Amino acid sequence: MATFKPLSPLFGVETFDVDLSQPLSDATFKELEQAFYANQVLALRNQRLTATQFLAFARRFGPPQPHVIDQFHHPDDANILILSNVKVAGQPTGLQDAGSYFHTDYSYLQVPARATTLYSRVVPQVGGDTLFANQQAAYDDLPDAMKKRIDPLMAVHQYGNRHDVNESSRTAASVLSAEQKAKMPVITHRIARPHPVTGRKSLYAVSGSSFGIVGMPDDEARSLLDELAAHSTQAGYQLSFKYGVGDIVVWDNAALLHSATLIDPNDARTLWRVTVLEESRDAVAPAVLASTYAM
Ligand code: SIN
Repeated sequence: MATFKPLSPLFGVETFDVDLSQPLSDATFKELEQAFYANQVLALRNQRLTATQFLAFARRFGPPQPHVIDQFHHPDDANILILSNVKVAGQPTGLQDAGSYFHTDYSYLQVPARATTLYSRVVPQVGGDTLFANQQAAYDDLPDAMKKRIDPLMAVHQYGNRHDVNESSRTAASVLSAEQKAKMPVITHRIARPHPVTGRKSLYAVSGSSFGIVGMPDDEARSLLDELAAHSTQAGYQLSFKYGVGDIVVWDNAALLHSATLIDPNDARTLWRVTVLEESRDAVAPAVLASTYAM
């Protein structure tokens, strides 16, 4: 039996007891999976893994989906995205800022991400934490009138950060090429979204990729989303996760917002990332979407 220690009073646990370079039994994986769904952030400290071993672990949570930013896929497997500020001969070796604003991975896809796994390879001298904000607690704490108001609402999502669309800013979404942009759809998700596994409701991606609300004028929709985002990213809902070399963290995208933190670009930081998908979604028919939201 693995033992788990809390990472914060509200959510997140860590374990030092599992060596993922060894075969992982179904029973041990079940323990990890239960800890993951119960605590939303699961850290497995001190791992020494090959790319293949890391990917095999991530796959236990769901089907991996390569990131649209294909220039930083790992050379051994496109399912691994390299996050790094290290340059070699002036050329970036990875994606430097993978979302330095609160967002939910792949919330801009019809089938969004269930879990993101990061494997820490090089840790900076200063900072480099990932921030998480617990959207289940944030939903629970809303006044009943607000819960009633948002319950039927569908947010409109597309790749990007609605708070910063300036492509030269480090807090904008990572810039896509014209070809990559052409692949990105406009889709919807419920704002008060039941967890696909546990059923518990969260505020879903109210910061980041949510740009509007189906059937609501843009200014009203933005102001409601901004109000929800300001509520749900308050310090009391946050956990700041500090990496050591070899740490793996797995987080539940259906229950959290997260944000990378900006660091000195010369203070080396490298992680590998695998994101795995859910298997179903709530949808608004494209015709309804087109008639209620300018597309
Ligand atoms: C991410 O948003 O996937 C990256 C988080 C980080 O770099 O801290």
